[in-house]
Amino acid sequence: MSVLTRSVLGDVVVLGIETSCDETGVGIVRLRADGTVELLADEIASSVEQHARFGGVVPEVASRAHLEAMVPAVHRALAVAGVSSSDVDAVAVTAGPGLAGALLVGLAAAKAYAVAWDVPLYGVNHLSAHVAVDTVEHGPLPAAALALLVSGGHSSLLRVSSLAGEIHTLGATIDDAAGEAFDKVARLLGLPFPGGPHIDKAAREGNAEAIAFPRGLTGPRDAPYDFSFSGLKTSVARWVEARQRAGEPVPVADVAASFQEAVVDVLTAKAIRAATEFGIDHLVIGGGVAANSRLRALAETRCAAAGIRLRVPRPKLCTDNGAMVAALGAHLHAAGVAPSGLDISAGPSLALV
Ligand code: KG4
Ligand code: ZN
Repeated sequence: MSVLTRSVLGDVVVLGIETSCDETGVGIVRLRADGTVELLADEIASSVEQHARFGGVVPEVASRAHLEAMVPAVHRALAVAGVSSSDVDAVAVTAGPGLAGALLVGLAAAKAYAVAWDVPLYGVNHLSAHVAVDTVEHGPLPAAALALLVSGGHSSLLRVSSLAGEIHTLGATIDDAAGEAFDKVARLLGLPFPGGPHIDKAAREGNAEAIAFPRGLTGPRDAPYDFSFSGLKTSVARWVEARQRAGEPVPVADVAASFQEAVVDVLTAKAIRAATEFGIDHLVIGGGVAANSRLRALAETRCAAAGIRLRVPRPKLCTDNGAMVAALGAHLHAAGVAPSGLDISAGPSLALV
């Protein structure tokens, strides 16, 4: 049966594998003929605790953890979804961007399952998958949407016409990713890794206006849709060091709140500016930092004021997971996109097409 015939006939069940960083994600979704996506399973095994003492993800440790977690995660996902391997219509896998060794584990597993089950294989872009997962929660995307992807590895502003191909990068970070800045600032405040959730929590007790940290790349001559967080991180470090040198206590909650405000102010302002300039009235926010409570609240307020409909998946779908890969694979399969060859290789810096 051809790919197109299958999709015309109705439901498509896709298993997705994500191993680009430190989460081994295996998700299973059912894409219905009406465009709605049902989440059948979303199994995650994280090696985050093995990296915590290093303050960042150690690639070799992540690869080994993926290797150990992969097959049990696939078995669990099939059991939770209540489907057998013969019900799976396609296998999707993150081909990049991400850590080379970690990606290779996922790709090798996905190829093996696709061959064993005799189904097509889709190697997908991790960033597109972060956008696609929103369809699990909020249904099909409109013809034009803007996506703000903010995580430990990337910060990008994308213009999305179709999940099956037309995604253009309007801007990206020129140095640190937003989540990376959260992690580094958390470290200098003595908070555990990954720092984002801890800053989010500490900031709730702090004053976001206590310290005026810089807003990177917001000058009139700066690239309107690019981001920079390294100057902000340095500024926080200098401020904290000055207090420590003076023998004064560091007001962790105020620093966390003021730093967080500087990040989410820039993220939301640039996203709204892009939406307004391109006449796009839907904004999707994804990636681990989209779990941030202040980002979600400020985006809500600013989108409402600008007449933009905001779509943010629930936090568990914002961080890396297999469901996002399965969702994108299902959209590609249903759109009749040609599957990847079995010779597809990992693309650590894979660009959007
Ligand atoms: O998408 P993700 O799970 O992995 C990558 O692709 O990087 O994102 C992880 C990042 C980490 O930097 C983490 O600190 C950040 O997302 N993060 C948060 C929050 N939850 C996770 N940052 C700010 N606030 C949060 N609540
Ligand atoms: Zn990610």
